[in-house]
Amino acid sequence: MTPRRPVLSPPLPSRGLRSVPRPILLVAALLLGVGGCQDAQLPPLAPGDVPRAAVSFPEEWRFPSDAEPVTARNGGVSTTDALATQVGIQILREGGTAMDAAIAVSFALAVVNPSAGNLGGGGFMVTRTGDGETSALDYREKAPLAAYRDMYLDEEGELTDASVLGHRSVGVPGTVMGMWAAHERYGTLPWEALVQPSIHLAEGFPVAERFARSVRGSRASLELFETTRTTFLPDGEVPAVGTTFRQPDLARTLTRIRDRGPDGFYRGETADLIVEEMARGDGLITHRDLEEYTAVWRTPVTFTYRGYTVTSMPPSSSGGATLALMAHILEDHDLAGMGWHSPEMIHVMTEAWRRAYADRNQVLADMDFVDVPLERMTSRDYARERGADIALDRATPSEEVGPGLEVGEGINTTHYSIVDRWGNAVAVTTTLNSSFGSKVTVAGGGFLLNNEMDDFAAKPGFPNQFGLVQGEQNAIEPGKRMLSAMTPTVVTNPAGELFFVTGTPGGSTIITTVFQTLVNIIDFGMSVSQAVNAPRVHHQHLPDRISWESGGLSPEVVGALEARGHTLQERGGTSGDVQAILILPDGTLTLHADPRLGGTALGY
Ligand code: DON
Repeated sequence: MTPRRPVLSPPLPSRGLRSVPRPILLVAALLLGVGGCQDAQLPPLAPGDVPRAAVSFPEEWRFPSDAEPVTARNGGVSTTDALATQVGIQILREGGTAMDAAIAVSFALAVVNPSAGNLGGGGFMVTRTGDGETSALDYREKAPLAAYRDMYLDEEGELTDASVLGHRSVGVPGTVMGMWAAHERYGTLPWEALVQPSIHLAEGFPVAERFARSVRGSRASLELFETTRTTFLPDGEVPAVGTTFRQPDLARTLTRIRDRGPDGFYRGETADLIVEEMARGDGLITHRDLEEYTAVWRTPVTFTYRGYTVTSMPPSSSGGATLALMAHILEDHDLAGMGWHSPEMIHVMTEAWRRAYADRNQVLADMDFVDVPLERMTSRDYARERGADIALDRATPSEEVGPGLEVGEGINTTHYSIVDRWGNAVAVTTTLNSSFGSKVTVAGGGFLLNNEMDDFAAKPGFPNQFGLVQGEQNAIEPGKRMLSAMTPTVVTNPAGELFFVTGTPGGSTIITTVFQTLVNIIDFGMSVSQAVNAPRVHHQHLPDRISWESGGLSPEVVGALEARGHTLQERGGTSGDVQAILILPDGTLTLHADPRLGGTALGY
């Protein structure tokens, strides 16, 4: 790939334009299946030629270690949804960059994957241009200006469920402003062309099993709010597979966004609809909240791990800093020598994670509001100190592991990864927080609102819905962004070339999942499909236990870890939904969508 910096000030003939003929054809082609899987893939390597590691997964494990990744020469897109992936590929084929495709995919996911894709939520984007410029875009939701510290406590000071369900759980949405900021800096195709495919999808797309399953899974809570019920359970039923699912209100909202950019969401009719919706519950978002929302470009967290350079998200996500601390602690341990998923390896990873999460939970928060010792947390020196008391033969109980740093010195989220033919890479993780967020759909607007407020420490020292016990730093303040675990990540190899693009949903497990995909590839030489299909484990300091995916650990490994003093818990369901792209030394892209939720990777 010849690196090419995308056009920074795109020659847009287009802001505010209405003529969008090409994407109309584009979506028609998508819906007719033109340019689908088969034609999009030009395997440059024969099956079996993609290098993979000689590891075997436990017999009971459901995903194979010999799955072939998708391979491509020019560009590739991996998302959790086939239609969204096709939108991304089509934008690349039309000459758009990875950044253009990322914007179009974001809007498409808001339509076809409403449990996590969104207009009413927020997210993070990590990018690397073909000539090596990295950036991190924070479009996380903010607490409304009327929010206050104890807003989720009842008279007895006990936590209520208002941070998780309903109008009061909603943070000021960031996605539309985030996509606009991404387009202003890196877009090369007209904004309208990137929003248009999602309008066509909102006018109607064929229901796949995956979509029906997600609605079925949340049916009881979707029925709680009238507009949500009538939107997602038309005629009172889960949309049937093969039927066409239409979202006319959403199509109109997207049309306003297409024509007016962020003003089509944060001002005017859409803003009125959001504020009116707030009045139907106990919501706090005002016109001023919407008008004042900003997305922010931040300096990414960058660190090296065994010679590879990892670029990830700084606060208001905890992802990059926590990943850096884990990686630095574990760099002093020969994971490969211990053997993949040996008790020794899982033990030492757990001990590093325990310490890293203790620090995360204590000190990380929105740096626009509080001081965060980010430099120290991401330094090798600190990691060496922090990892010094790890015993190789026994677990350190979490109650003995306080935070080592001082201040002053859930599934539904979705991730996608894109690489284009110029070597530009984009990793985006975006969410409404819980599946279908607050479960509140804006009447007349057709889109769901997040329940991201629960990511604050609604009561410092008490667990949130992911069991994370967070501190004062992340207490609620007006206008503050709630701490996230989302970890969109781009990695370059020791030669400085683009190597790996990854990320996942999974609430508090996001960081350990991203970490495990990195280790699987860097330490164990796995193929991208092996690295993604491999079973995962997780530990987050509190609760003090290793959770593991059913079938993912053999009884012998569980026993050996228990003998070291660990408590293990077999978790229900699966962990994460990684979308990953690994670039081979000859430049071939290898892509793999996590089979856990059944996403789609395509290349061309
Ligand atoms: O930002 C965060 O860390 C959470 N709101 C992510 C939620 C999530 O991943 C739920 N899905 N699995």
